[in-house]
Amino acid sequence: METTSIEPSMQITFTLVSTHEEIAQIIDLQARNLAPVLSPETIASQGFLTVRHDADVLLRMNEAAPAVIAKDEGRLVGYALVMPREFAAEVPVLLPMFDMLAGLSWKGIPLRDNPRWFVMGQICVAAGYRGMGVFDGMYLKMKEVYKTKFDFTVTEIAERNTRSMRAHERVGFQELHTYPDTTTGEVWRTVVLEF
Ligand SMILES: CC(C)(COP(=O)(O)OP(=O)(O)OC[C@H]1O[C@@H](n2cnc3c(N)ncnc32)[C@H](O)[C@@H]1OP(=O)(O)O)[C@@H](O)C(=O)NCCC(=O)NCCS
Repeated sequence: METTSIEPSMQITFTLVSTHEEIAQIIDLQARNLAPVLSPETIASQGFLTVRHDADVLLRMNEAAPAVIAKDEGRLVGYALVMPREFAAEVPVLLPMFDMLAGLSWKGIPLRDNPRWFVMGQICVAAGYRGMGVFDGMYLKMKEVYKTKFDFTVTEIAERNTRSMRAHERVGFQELHTYPDTTTGEVWRTVVLEF
């Protein structure tokens, strides 16, 4: 379970990844929130992450399209990954998602024919900083930075991650598709946020 004794300073800033140190802090925050290291109670109340990213792939992803991060006096306290579609093959566990997305349409336009969207690859807010607007702030920053090049972002949320489902609904994500992963039994909801 993730624990923190650090008190938020209330001076949280929203920016883009620009250093290797920030990538290392993303990997660290990710590692503390993966389902296998969390108790069932924490998973139910706080949410959980499924995908672990390779540090090299994360570095190259961020060079192509930097993630949005939240910082509290230099400490990374949240991240939202931007995953360009050309990186699909680099994160093999996400390939089925990209295959599935290729068969869907948004507003009548097949996703496969539309270059103006990207996958929001993963979002996490550090324990101790939840429920304070960090989540909303990261999506606002994402819109501000990426809206000229993209019309919307797509992400997937495990249906049982009810905290994440609620937070995404609150900031305006709309449902596109729901499907079960027959291997793991996880039910995934594909959602879209218009910029
Ligand atoms: C999911 C996460 C990013 C959301 O950020 P956050 O700062 O906790 O989100 P917020 O507190 O702003 O919003 C959570 C919403 O869910 C509600 N909520 C809290 N716990 C809940 C629960 N167990 N089930 C359903 N809703 C819940 C809150 O009341 C709030 O809704 P409201 O604004 O209508 O009151 C963060 O909790 C986190 O990083 N969790 C661990 C990793 C994770 O699950 N990432 C997402 C993977 S898809």
